[in-house]
Amino acid sequence: MGYVGPRDARDVVLEGLRRLEYRGYDSAGIAVVADGTLTSAKKAGKLANLEKVLADQPLPAATIGIGHTRWATHGGPTDRNAHPHLSADGTVAVIHNGIIENFAVLRAECESSGVEFTSDTDTEVTAHLLAAAYTALPEGPGRLAEAMRTVSRRLEGAFTLVATCVAEPDTVVASRRSSPLVVGVGDGEYFLGSDVAAFIGHTREALELGQDQVVEIDRTRGVTVTDFHGATVQPTAYTVDWDAEAAEKGGYDWFMLKEIAEQPRAIADTLLGRLGANGGLVLDEVRLSDQELRDIDKIFVVSCGTSFHAGLIAKYAIEHWTRIPVEVELASEFRYRDPVLDRSTLVVVISQSGETMDTLMALRHARDQKARVLAICNANGSTIPRESDAVLYTHAGPEVAVASTKGFLTQIVACYLVGLFLAQVRGVKYEDEVAAIVADLRRLPDAVAEVLAGMDAVRELARELADANTILFLGRHVGYPVALEGALKLKELAYIHAEGFAAGELKHGPIAVVDQGTPVIVVVPSPNSRESVHGKVVSNIQEVRARGARTIVIAEEGDEAVVPFADHLIRVPRLPTLLAPVVTVVPLQVLACEIADTRGLDVDQPRNLAKSVTVE
Ligand code: G6P
Repeated sequence: MGYVGPRDARDVVLEGLRRLEYRGYDSAGIAVVADGTLTSAKKAGKLANLEKVLADQPLPAATIGIGHTRWATHGGPTDRNAHPHLSADGTVAVIHNGIIENFAVLRAECESSGVEFTSDTDTEVTAHLLAAAYTALPEGPGRLAEAMRTVSRRLEGAFTLVATCVAEPDTVVASRRSSPLVVGVGDGEYFLGSDVAAFIGHTREALELGQDQVVEIDRTRGVTVTDFHGATVQPTAYTVDWDAEAAEKGGYDWFMLKEIAEQPRAIADTLLGRLGANGGLVLDEVRLSDQELRDIDKIFVVSCGTSFHAGLIAKYAIEHWTRIPVEVELASEFRYRDPVLDRSTLVVVISQSGETMDTLMALRHARDQKARVLAICNANGSTIPRESDAVLYTHAGPEVAVASTKGFLTQIVACYLVGLFLAQVRGVKYEDEVAAIVADLRRLPDAVAEVLAGMDAVRELARELADANTILFLGRHVGYPVALEGALKLKELAYIHAEGFAAGELKHGPIAVVDQGTPVIVVVPSPNSRESVHGKVVSNIQEVRARGARTIVIAEEGDEAVVPFADHLIRVPRLPTLLAPVVTVVPLQVLACEIADTRGLDVDQPRNLAKSVTVE
């Protein structure tokens, strides 16, 4: 977070940090320049710890400031490793996201010229280099920005750097390569933030920055953007389509509960304007020509975490509807195994934040290999959609809880749209077939609302399961990714050991861990699903029950076959098989959230996790 303007920078920066808290962090710090001095404060732990430090030793009122929440990479989450880092002479303060890969060489260089380092971070080196570059430049406007360009050209890896300098009390300068950074433009005031949440309380006017760019925000000169060599660049302006209220809890105990409740609306917004009046689809934003879409002969879906599970679900729908082979891959694995890609390959990258470094690197690799890249993304103005050939935005609104819920459901819906659109363009489905699926998509918001209305029993169940040591999740066909997602949610939020399995694999190993009382949650396919997978999953429920498991069964309305074997039965509305994950996952989200809450844990910011992982 960076600020230049008439307000008290201390307040603006701290408020910005509070709004960015959701991204996950383990220390925080702030620096301001006032009356010819640069002062800073930093502390390990949550912002409250920093605020205590500031209450004891207040910083002076100032009109420029920078602030940071750090998720430790190089060096533990301690006071001394927290940002900002100051140059040895105390004239320059720097905050940094990302990893500077050649920091060891640069550090040795600084040390050989007598600089003593005060932290274990890769970041500190940039403060010393900036001070040295600054001193070497002639006086004049834009000197800090020029020093930033000089230093940035020497850095390898991914970084957003934001710096202030005692000699330029009206200027904050930043640089970005691969890590997120957006500029907020207010009335006579300017903001920098990892995302727009940092300044949304003050302005909705934002500027996107490109790769390898330096931005200066200055009280009189305004915003200047250049590349690393000083050539002026015109940034893309956009208006954020949500306001500060959308990123507040609105009466809920947790953001996650609010975001779960928002899912019917988020799905409706994601479908809005995309379902044509004649029963077809209209995806104007997919900037790939019909011919390019017809030429596709293979699809990869690439993503991380919960978004990866959306990709797994996408495979079933896209292959079934388009008959194009689909592979789903973790972004962190994708580029390292040299996948076979060419012009007729479509790579669908899914990222709620649009900033996940693993996904970004996979997308760059795919484009280098000439594949077409379509991004499914929630955050406007983020890097992944900007670097993709085409984008389909989910309209979930800001997602603040670290664990993704409405982001996930809208990703699944966006994947359905992509699959169906491809089928429509390629003519592999008759118009009335597309129209029938579109009609089913229209039912999704109400179906999710119906599930949410019946969650009291799940809350009750959460209290009963809160002390479990291990919980297993079983699913088959599209229920398998749902099982994986249910297990991931439980691990992330409740710190309970949980595993998701393909129900058919049960007999090949997982059944060995089932013991007396082991909770086993089973996502049951519709009795109307193909080739009797329903019957096989019902057998699986009996198999685990026979070995002492406590069975928690998620099944559609009217499925009576499961009743005798379910210790707990959770009903969901009937939907076509491929669309069922949109409802079956909802009780699992609520369950994980409620178990974590019962265990007294921080549901929105689980330990060790970050919302947006901007390092590889
Ligand atoms: C982090 C978050 C997860 C998220 C994943 C992918 O690990 O904690 O909740 O699913 O990143 O994020 P993305 O923004 O790319 O969807």
